[in-house]
Amino acid sequence: MPVITEVADLKGMYRRRVPRMFYDYTESGSWSEQTFRENTSDFSEIRLRQRIAVDLANRSVASRLIGEDVAMPVVLAPVGLLGMQCADGEIKAARAAARSGVPFCLSTMSICSIEDVAANTEKPFWFQVYTLKDNDFMSRLLARARAVGCPAIVITVDLQVLGQRHKDIKNGLSAPPKLTMASIANMMTKVSWGLGMLGTKRRSFGNIVGHAEGVTDPASLSSWTAEAFDPSLNWDRIKELMDMWGGKVILKGILDEEDAVTAAELGADAIVVSNHGGRQLDGALSSIRMLEPIVKAVGGKTEVWLDGGVRSGQDVLKAVALGAKGVMIGRAFVYGLGAMGEAGVTAVLDVIGKELDVSMGLCGRRDIADVDREILLVPEGFSGGFG
Ligand code: GLV
Repeated sequence: MPVITEVADLKGMYRRRVPRMFYDYTESGSWSEQTFRENTSDFSEIRLRQRIAVDLANRSVASRLIGEDVAMPVVLAPVGLLGMQCADGEIKAARAAARSGVPFCLSTMSICSIEDVAANTEKPFWFQVYTLKDNDFMSRLLARARAVGCPAIVITVDLQVLGQRHKDIKNGLSAPPKLTMASIANMMTKVSWGLGMLGTKRRSFGNIVGHAEGVTDPASLSSWTAEAFDPSLNWDRIKELMDMWGGKVILKGILDEEDAVTAAELGADAIVVSNHGGRQLDGALSSIRMLEPIVKAVGGKTEVWLDGGVRSGQDVLKAVALGAKGVMIGRAFVYGLGAMGEAGVTAVLDVIGKELDVSMGLCGRRDIADVDREILLVPEGFSGGFG
């Protein structure tokens, strides 16, 4: 068993273990990837303020998100194709999240279906939906999430049309993977991944294939987006979907103060400041730069969370100090999943939890509830904002 001390250890293992097209799917942003890069690099512009001689006994990073107790303010973000990163990936990630006491959100574009994940895990998980045209399919999807006891849904509101990721096109990304000379040659070098895949039946989009009218083989997000996503989405439709669910709703993909205020007024239980991991509008500001103006604009009307660029507990701490009630991690946990399956996701959550706890302590705070902007040095002009 390798010694894991940081998330980067798992990223290296992940890259070696998983076929190129799935690694690239994770490690891509849209077009020039500027926003993808800045989501992470902007975190390092914020500095932490070291304090000493403060009683650091009995520290706690335990929090509450939309009324649920969590071991730390971290959520496993909805990520498509986890079951291609490693066999039965969604089930493994959900189990690891449950063991670490943080919420797991299953993506509509998952390989294991909602029912399958529910049957193979003990703790309820959240479910993510896109804003699709087909109302019957949407209502069946929500009914399925309800039937297995999902306590909340995440509605992705920033994917009306799809930003282009060059590598996915060049690799012919699909699930199950398209067999070309290049992809076969690459997969042959990924022995443990391949053995895992041979041992599972879960190899295509479990929530969609056989459930959406006329969709027998969505194969890839891009082909499915073109036919199923609603380019004419508006706030009324978002409200309609919220009402259709009737329970707790998190709106993910907000990067503007005005949109944030509208979302809060609509009654979202939380909003997630996100640019979809830099996978949609290239050239948009990083999530961390937009966090503070959005927190200010929303003024406590709803919980504001951050998604995008978080790779460490220090990043979580900075986001919380800038006003995020919760923080989603995507790529960071995928590295662990692809590297070592369930144990890898657990390792990521352990690493991030320890980094968060110790860094909070070194900033002179004992409880995550007491973390505020005073622990930060934020360069002048760092925060964006259009309002
Ligand atoms: C899907 O939402 C993706 O970003 O690939």
